[in-house]
Amino acid sequence: MSTADSKVEIEEEKTKKQGTFEELPPEYLKRLAEGLKKYEEEIISTGGKVTTSGRKKKEKEIRRNLTKELKAAKREEAKASSSETPSDAASSSSTPSSSIQITNSDPTAPEVKVGDVPEHLGERIHSFGWVSSIRMHGKNLVFIALRNLGKQVQCVAHGALAKSDVIVNLTRESTIDAWGTVQKGTTEISPFEILLDYVEVIGPCPAEFEQLLNPDSGVEQRMNYRHLQHRGDILTRTMRVRSRLLFEYRKYLYSKNFEEVTPPTIVKNACEGGSEMFAIKYYDQTAFLTESSQLYLETVIQSLGNVFCILPSYRAEKSTTRRHLAEFTHLEAEMPFMEFDAFLGFIEDFICTVIDKMIEVCKDDLSVLNKDFKPLQRPFKRMTYMEAIQWLKDHDVKKEDGTYYEYPDDIPEKPERFLVDTINVPVMLMRFPACQKAFYMKKCKDDPLFTESVDVLVPTVGEIIGGSSRISDYDELCKVLEERKMDPKPFNWYLDLRKYGTAPHSGFGLGVERILCWLTNTYHIRDACMYPRYMGRVTP
Ligand code: 4AD
Repeated sequence: MSTADSKVEIEEEKTKKQGTFEELPPEYLKRLAEGLKKYEEEIISTGGKVTTSGRKKKEKEIRRNLTKELKAAKREEAKASSSETPSDAASSSSTPSSSIQITNSDPTAPEVKVGDVPEHLGERIHSFGWVSSIRMHGKNLVFIALRNLGKQVQCVAHGALAKSDVIVNLTRESTIDAWGTVQKGTTEISPFEILLDYVEVIGPCPAEFEQLLNPDSGVEQRMNYRHLQHRGDILTRTMRVRSRLLFEYRKYLYSKNFEEVTPPTIVKNACEGGSEMFAIKYYDQTAFLTESSQLYLETVIQSLGNVFCILPSYRAEKSTTRRHLAEFTHLEAEMPFMEFDAFLGFIEDFICTVIDKMIEVCKDDLSVLNKDFKPLQRPFKRMTYMEAIQWLKDHDVKKEDGTYYEYPDDIPEKPERFLVDTINVPVMLMRFPACQKAFYMKKCKDDPLFTESVDVLVPTVGEIIGGSSRISDYDELCKVLEERKMDPKPFNWYLDLRKYGTAPHSGFGLGVERILCWLTNTYHIRDACMYPRYMGRVTP
């Protein structure tokens, strides 16, 4: 399973099994996935494009090398078992494994959590968990990785126990109660281990489990078995980083005197334009799943001050890119009396502080997921929309019709990513044309064609944050609604905020899955959420 959730897009172009190659065991498949990922990263980092044929060729090459290595290991193993001592050989032939039953010598030994095993050196204990991997070394030695509560410990069975029914028939992902004495391990990865003397299977895992997911599984198969895929190493680590990320966001925001609120996500009003909303039957009327909780956040800055929420937002756009979800986790914040310059500084500090903290607290997981991720440099590079238009011209980036991007063209995802991948550091893209952006964005004082708006772009992902100063003047907001031919009636409550004691304010929305993709080097956004929702997928 540890390989099945590989972030590498093995599933994208479902590779045919290489008939000439031996079926590789999970740890080799994991290395295959890592090798392919590295290959793709190298190509992307040099501005190249990963092609199906190039990728297949690379896969073949890696498989060939791994198969060679596996064969050599098997030869070594065969040599080792043929040189067993005569007494070993005699005992194994005279006692067939199927007849060996072991009993528990002392059922009163204390239960110890997997993570606490090192504290019990020399003691006999027992510990519950799932079997992550089983490695046989000859007939007399079996290594079992036991996993529970986010931790792993190596268990060792040898001699009669290694040949007993329970160990011989043990399968990965079975739940067991492992009994034995804690001893020092022999490797750095396993400094402590349980020398087993008795094992009880609590929940056996049928061997078919191995067939459900493997690196050749397509996206559909992986998503159908997402509930089992969660046991994989990469997805477990990604979900743990996600959990810590949400915690660090909250810690930062509470430290800056923010309050968390939870507005409803079933709404009547559009926020970002409305064309991309899911309509739902709400008793006897039609309602929508919200695109953004921003407008509701704006209603409590007068009472609570700085506010934020972390809630799902929904986008019904028929987009299948690797950065779009139909439901995503949206962190949104709104701050009264914060003008544009201070707002930009706030966003920069928010991102840098949280990311620095993440590098520290998720060191172990990030060393596996994204070991090259570097602390961010302040200040962020800032660029206006018009400078970006010029940058695209200077780099000869054209639209599909062969012409250059010009004001007030929207800069789509692809050129935007090219820009930030080329610059290769986070970029704050500012001052977007008013006609391109949402109705609530404040116009620039020096040029009303542009808005006090910002998108934060990061390499490999693109936009992770969108924010702006909000129009705080009642008449100006009414005028914008009129110009856009938007019915002001549904916005009466929103307009009241400007009528009854208005205040300048700013806010932003951050896509949690997108920032997680960036931090963990996850290629596709669906691998950054628990049960992704995108066009065509609504189960499990
Ligand atoms: O730029 P957006 O659309 O801005 C808003 O919704 C504002 N009302 C937010 C605010 O100011 N309170 O979305 C904000 C962020 C984007 O930068 C992106 O990271 C994420 O939300 N996002 C998505 N993430 C995944 N899938 C999608 N379909 C997303 N759409 C936006």
